[in-house]
Amino acid sequence: MKKANPILLAIETSCDDTSVAVLKEGKIVANIVSSQLEHSDLGGVVPEIASRAHVLTIQSVAKMALRNAGVKITDLDAIACTKGPGLMGSLIVGLSFAKTLAQALKLPLIGVNHMKAHILAHYIEDPKPPFPFLCLTVSGGHTQIVKVESPLDMIVVGETQDDAAGEAFDKIGKMLGLPYPAGHQIDILAKEGASIYSFPKPKIEHLNFSFSGFKTAVLYFLQNKMKEDPQFIENNRKDIAASVQSSIVSILLDKLSFASDLYNIKEIAIAGGVSANSTLRKELLALGKKKGWNTYIPEKEYSTDNAAMIAMSGYFQYLSNDLSDFSLVPNPRLKI
Ligand code: KG4
Ligand code: ZN
Repeated sequence: MKKANPILLAIETSCDDTSVAVLKEGKIVANIVSSQLEHSDLGGVVPEIASRAHVLTIQSVAKMALRNAGVKITDLDAIACTKGPGLMGSLIVGLSFAKTLAQALKLPLIGVNHMKAHILAHYIEDPKPPFPFLCLTVSGGHTQIVKVESPLDMIVVGETQDDAAGEAFDKIGKMLGLPYPAGHQIDILAKEGASIYSFPKPKIEHLNFSFSGFKTAVLYFLQNKMKEDPQFIENNRKDIAASVQSSIVSILLDKLSFASDLYNIKEIAIAGGVSANSTLRKELLALGKKKGWNTYIPEKEYSTDNAAMIAMSGYFQYLSNDLSDFSLVPNPRLKI
């Protein structure tokens, strides 16, 4: 029977973070994230290594989440789990674990869309955006502008036609000799650099994005500079980082601004791993002030991948009876 105040266990294993959260009385009472360091020198996430690492850690992460929450496994009312998008092998580990728990405990299973969950992370803490609002969702695999009508009703109004913003950070970081994932490293370096180099902005229609040409422009810029001075990257890494970061942020905010004007919506949020970027956060606040927006920026803990957001989405789905049956299989390309 459905409860008004369910206790949920939520599982997230879509990429390279193994995370389990517990939600009680609508609030997150535990959120454990175990990030895999195995990929840092490999230039990107290696799917098989990621799946194996999830298998090794999921049980201890789940135990720790329950212990931190002070919740017994028999207290649980439902199990929520990411069903996609993400890496197939990684998703299978989390979903199989979730199904086994739900079957054994005779609890409902709730399959959660990872990208919707990034947006619903805004309901973990105050201030919570009122509906409708626009959300720029920027992660390692996605760059979208989403019109959010309700917790379960979202429309993608613009998205990248090729690379995601996080991917641009990571690939350019690799060119600069930084470990994977490079977004956070670029952010740190940029704090001590100046945005003195400029790169052409992609010309892409409507609310869509493109970062592939931008990434190639940076590559050619670096190759040319390195021909003149083989120490160019070594000696100018901080300024290059600041310049790249400032260009990516400006591309993102131009489209967000266009979307706000087009839909006449002034409730504006950002979500996903790249929303942890300090320049994006600062520039969004400044632009919001100028344009009279109410801006919503998630805590960094809830920007990058975490199971708290899966719990939040699971909670809304539970209350709306949006449950899954045990035939559920992961969908690596699941859309919003
Ligand atoms: O949402 P997320 O944790 O995982 C996916 O769903 O993909 O996003 C990961 C992405 C990576 O590309 C990473 O480099 C980027 O978020 N990222 C950042 C920052 N922190 C994480 N990008 C720029 N600045 C940051 N501070
Ligand atoms: Zn994510």
